[in-house]
Amino acid sequence: MENQKITLITGANRGMGLEIAKELGQKGQLILLGVRDVTGSQKVLDQLRSQGVRAELVSIDVTNEQTVEQAVKEVEGRHGHLDILINNAGIALDNYEKPSTLPISTIRKDFEVNFFGTILVTQNFLPLLRKSTSGKIINISSAVGSLTLASDPSTSIYQHSAMGYQASKSALNMFTIDLANELKETNITANVVNPGWVDTTFAGGGGNKTVEEGVQRTVELATMESNDINGTFSDSDGIVPW
Ligand SMILES: NC(=O)c1ccc[n+]([C@@H]2O[C@H](COP(=O)([O-])OP(=O)(O)OC[C@H]3O[C@@H](n4cnc5c(N)ncnc54)[C@H](OP(=O)(O)O)[C@@H]3O)[C@@H](O)[C@H]2O)c1
Repeated sequence: MENQKITLITGANRGMGLEIAKELGQKGQLILLGVRDVTGSQKVLDQLRSQGVRAELVSIDVTNEQTVEQAVKEVEGRHGHLDILINNAGIALDNYEKPSTLPISTIRKDFEVNFFGTILVTQNFLPLLRKSTSGKIINISSAVGSLTLASDPSTSIYQHSAMGYQASKSALNMFTIDLANELKETNITANVVNPGWVDTTFAGGGGNKTVEEGVQRTVELATMESNDINGTFSDSDGIVPW
């Protein structure tokens, strides 16, 4: 198992995080399931193992520095390095609210998880990714965070109004662009993926894509042998405009 890729996924106890864990695990990667509730996630771990996945639980609340630092120590102690980091944990507390009245406290909460949380996890795990022969950072964003689509009246995204969530994903995109640029001479790449409108708890019973469809691009990027795609925003149909 010496060459087995080690992959950490945040928010891996349900939704797309869990599907990514299953698919990458079944393709031979060792999966570190980043979860907030370790005890409550034991069932999920058992289920994955019964599906042939080599997996472990790691306690991570992306808004809690202490859990993130502890997680780095644990992964370093157990494995010495990390190959793939998938920043999947995300929330959307606003939906169809007007930007003129959307409470700032709601916007802050969206940013706390989607933007600051992703940066916190990424910065802390970078030293372990640098120890990989080929490191990948994949940030799960959204087409609603695309400034190009959101400002184009001919798109469905133009009709969408969840400014706090959208801005947190636009900011996440900017973090990824700058990070990819900083890392371009290294062994690590950073990209963002748009899953589409996916039928998870997040979509509240909506969603026109299955979780399998939603994770397709992420799984593709995470399993590519080569590691020369850097600083892109894409989905299963191709490049998404920033
Ligand atoms: N579904 C869609 O249509 C859609 C569209 C575009 C983008 N996305 C993005 O795709 C990603 C996954 O979404 P999903 O649809 O799979 O949502 P989901 O089913 O609601 O799952 C969200 C995951 O994030 C975790 N999470 C929330 N806050 C966290 C925190 N502070 N620390 C660590 N984990 C936390 C949740 O853990 P708990 O169980 O502990 O709450 C859960 O595992 C998100 O980044 C979302 O923004 C989704």
